Amino acid sequence: MLRLGVMVSGGGTNLQAIIDKIESGYLEGCKIVTVVASRPGAYALERAARYDIPAVCISKKSFASADGYDQALLEHFNSCNVDLVVLAGFLSMLGENFVKVYQNRIINIHPSLIPSFCGKGFYGIIPHQKALEHGVKVTGATVHFVDFEYDTGPIILQKAVQVLDDDTPESLQRRVMEQAEWELLPKAIKLYSEGRISIDGRKVTIK
Ligand code: GRF
Repeated sequence: MLRLGVMVSGGGTNLQAIIDKIESGYLEGCKIVTVVASRPGAYALERAARYDIPAVCISKKSFASADGYDQALLEHFNSCNVDLVVLAGFLSMLGENFVKVYQNRIINIHPSLIPSFCGKGFYGIIPHQKALEHGVKVTGATVHFVDFEYDTGPIILQKAVQVLDDDTPESLQRRVMEQAEWELLPKAIKLYSEGRISIDGRKVTIK
């Protein structure tokens, strides 16, 4: 059984996509053993509660130091014997020590085709606003391993989504979520659970 720890900050639609794929059997052999929210108001917590998934809020703001936050996360995930950490719409930066301990066992979904429209400050609706401002014809989503900076880790999966002439940031975000994010994140978890992802430096190979 692959034990998942899912980190959330917002509406939790990516968490919901994982839950749905577990319920459908697509992610058989995977179990969400904990959901960790970065803020108490995250609707993702209500989604977890609906499925009796243990959930906690560990907010960076409630720690005097980044190291304290890091240590609290490490203690929590270790106590849950988490195998794979999944950042699903998670907006806080993880500390160096946490990333070291879970190196190549943390994956993130980002709503653009990295290296476009990513990095510090590119979250939520912003990548879509920037994509429209730039006039790109294609955008999409990326699942990558998490390293020590925002959105810079080795890429696992990407999927392109057409930009339409009448798109707004909201309509584009919705389509990227529906057509790319909610498919790619469960797919990456499945590949990982089947031992089909190998990594050599920055090169990720899917067997
Ligand atoms: C999604 O676009 C996600 O990629 C981004 O925040 C949005 C909401 O994610 N990080 P969720 O609904 O909380 O999973």
